[in-house]
Amino acid sequence: MSAASEHRAPTRVLQRSGALVVVFADAEALVDYAARELAMIASDCVDEHGRFDWVLAGGSTPEDLYRRIAGGDLSLPWARTHVWFGDERCVGPDDPQSNYRMAHAAMLGTAPARAAAVHRMKGEQDPARAARDYEAEIRRACQLSAGGFPAFDLTLLGVGEDGHTASLFPGTPALAVRDRIVVENAVAKLATTRLTMTMPTLCHSRRAWIFAVGARKVAILKDVLGATRDAARWPVQGVRTARPVVWWLDEAAAAGVV
Ligand code: 6PG
Repeated sequence: MSAASEHRAPTRVLQRSGALVVVFADAEALVDYAARELAMIASDCVDEHGRFDWVLAGGSTPEDLYRRIAGGDLSLPWARTHVWFGDERCVGPDDPQSNYRMAHAAMLGTAPARAAAVHRMKGEQDPARAARDYEAEIRRACQLSAGGFPAFDLTLLGVGEDGHTASLFPGTPALAVRDRIVVENAVAKLATTRLTMTMPTLCHSRRAWIFAVGARKVAILKDVLGATRDAARWPVQGVRTARPVVWWLDEAAAAGVV
């Protein structure tokens, strides 16, 4: 962690089951630090291998981070950046539920991202077809051999109050999938289907960052960052990458993490 010193540093840095847990006084300090760290990683990746492949998280938590990145004082190498989505709701890009819509409103609509390098999951299409098409797009763009998994440079994730991440919910079929990059996932408790990257795809990422802010995440963080390991019950615990996974929390969310 090396963002510039005049920005508010973490209040706590912990290790939990091989993961790094970085806690900030509030969401603003977290977002500022994470955005700077992300901009540096993006430039390093372009220096190293000519491009930065970045997977966006959905839900509400990452919105402020996206806005901060689009804010203009951070220079991302957009000309060499590919933007992917970790999951999507089965709705069109203009639907209030759409993760694409959220990311577009917060960042992609103002940032100089190349349209051809923003890879949207087609939530409005037949889910099975949309999942296969997105897999094919990843295989092409990342020049993967058959059966290979992409090594995205950075995958952003959130965590639901039930321990789900991306759209890998407890007890859903996609959790057991090992031979696909992206699948449609029937989520009975929400009476809906989602599109989601699979656990092997998340785990093949070079870096995975998990964000959680606010008091409503206290209970689940106490569980998933506690001593009990149960990735079937709390799918987010299944995310393990070559580098330590980094949890970005504010003190409000981390109140139960000791
Ligand atoms: C989604 C997300 C999902 C999200 C969590 C947390 O499409 O909903 O990808 O995994 O990250 O549900 O959501 P919040 O950030 O809104 O708490």
